[in-house]
Amino acid sequence: MYRTHNCGELCKKDIGKKVILSGWIQKKRNLGSLCFIDIRDYFGITQLIFPKKLINKNFLLGKEFLIKIKGKVVERSSINFNIPTGEIEILVYQIEILNSSLTPPFTIENKTDGNEEMRMIYRYLDIRRNPIKNNLIIRHNISLEIRNFLSKNGFLEIETPILINYTQEGARSFIVPSRINIGKYYALAQSPQLFKQLLMIGGINRYFQIAKCFRDEDSRSDRQIEFTQIDCEMSFVEVNDILIFFENFIKHLFKKIKNIQLEPFTCISYYDAIKMYGTDSPDIRFDMSFIELTNLVHKKNILFLKEQELVIGLKVKKYHHDNNQINFLFKKIKNKNIFCIHYLFNKTLLYSSSNKFFMNKEIIKIFINYFQAKIGDLLFIAYGEEKNTRKKLGKIRLEIAHHLNLKNPKIFKPLWIIDGPILEWDEKNKKYKSLHHPFTSPKEEDLHFLEKNPEKIRSKSYDLIINGIEIGSGSIRIHNKNIQNLIFKHLGLSEKEIESQFGFFIKALQYGTPPHGGIAFGLDRLINLLEGNNDIKNFIAFPKNNYGMDTMIKAPSYLKNKIQ
Ligand code: AMO
Repeated sequence: MYRTHNCGELCKKDIGKKVILSGWIQKKRNLGSLCFIDIRDYFGITQLIFPKKLINKNFLLGKEFLIKIKGKVVERSSINFNIPTGEIEILVYQIEILNSSLTPPFTIENKTDGNEEMRMIYRYLDIRRNPIKNNLIIRHNISLEIRNFLSKNGFLEIETPILINYTQEGARSFIVPSRINIGKYYALAQSPQLFKQLLMIGGINRYFQIAKCFRDEDSRSDRQIEFTQIDCEMSFVEVNDILIFFENFIKHLFKKIKNIQLEPFTCISYYDAIKMYGTDSPDIRFDMSFIELTNLVHKKNILFLKEQELVIGLKVKKYHHDNNQINFLFKKIKNKNIFCIHYLFNKTLLYSSSNKFFMNKEIIKIFINYFQAKIGDLLFIAYGEEKNTRKKLGKIRLEIAHHLNLKNPKIFKPLWIIDGPILEWDEKNKKYKSLHHPFTSPKEEDLHFLEKNPEKIRSKSYDLIINGIEIGSGSIRIHNKNIQNLIFKHLGLSEKEIESQFGFFIKALQYGTPPHGGIAFGLDRLINLLEGNNDIKNFIAFPKNNYGMDTMIKAPSYLKNKIQ
């Protein structure tokens, strides 16, 4: 028998009991006549006291040695209130070394001296630390909650294939050679998209899957090449059905996991998001939405500004930091077509990244009035070509929020972004590409744009953004063969390519496909957000680093012999 109890459960009421414990040595203090050792297992830490007669024999015990002890629970003289076992210790009378350990490369405690590189190489040791272990427990609890909620609501969990066919759309795929079919290749699934739609065609009413997805793209703090989606699909639904159901789903998870009651979700169109915040994933924990100034500069005939395609601004209320802070902010922003006005009681200051920038007092006054600025307010004004200027001011808005500490990780502001364009012009490849994916349904009232202005067609799509992070994305799907074919053609696919890549799907659409739609949430991102963390790696047992490498198993690696 390895243990009668675990290392996290013994307390005052157990005093006097004879126990057997097994655990890894976390700390050792040798006081000559006595030796104190803390042992740790999955459940917690218990302090052991070794009397003198046992010390000599076990003097060589090192950190992370795995030991089994027999002993008696005794009251502790100096109580440790930080751990549940802090009122007792074990007076050891027998010890057995179950396994020795090499000296660990970093301290295995809540606060470690190990850098990320080391922690990744020795991930199994990192997992022994509470912060990572607890993250995996949280992940388990969330997955369980997701399964229960969706199952109770009639969703069937169905696994779909990972080895599928290569298609041009979306991100880059990982390619796997087939041994039996020489010269042929599989692609790893980027998402279960087509299979979940085929399940709807197959008459399944509601589907979900906690699905592994693979995308050959650059890793970042919110992106891994191998990640997990909560993938869902429902038949006989329209946009509102999805928004209502999944708003409740997310609210349920926040309540169950964090005991947070979320407010009703805000919902704005994609076009409004770009117009008001310069991004399709705005963080609305703080306001600072854009103020349109193009008409004003024309009306007031203002200098060089009236020549610009777009002039927009944003107001930072009651900015009470000193000039150095603004100069620092400006250096960080590093942008030419932007200036700012700090409206102060005795003098008003003008800032720009160029020393030569000048603007007379009258014009400054026009802006102050138009912004309805109060003393202390800071006004940013950006100008130039429409798309870039909005994007630029959007970045500045985030930079200011960061600088003013407005990104409170304990506040959650969910936002639905709906009605995004179905197609986007890709200047680099000189062709249209899907903003979501080619199976997204256009809004019927916009279909007349299809021939001449396809970028004007709005889609029945919805993204869930929380605190500026895209947590989920989905749409009502095309269930009509002709519209699907038209979209493929607009994406530049020839008849032959449509047939070879999606022929099976076009065929399936013709067997009485029901109207259907769905959504997929990034599980890693959702947990990371719930826990106020800033790197999804912390919630994945064995993540890849930012170069897509697993440095522990040394993947990817060269193949010694050709596979076939
Ligand atoms: P999409 O590609 O937007 O949609 O993905 C859905 C959600 O998955 C998460 N996500 C990622 N998380 C970590 N690392 C990545 N590399 C990564 N890429 C995406 C995001 C994102 O919102 N089939 C469609 C969904 C649908 O239409 O139903 C899809 O995959 O949180």
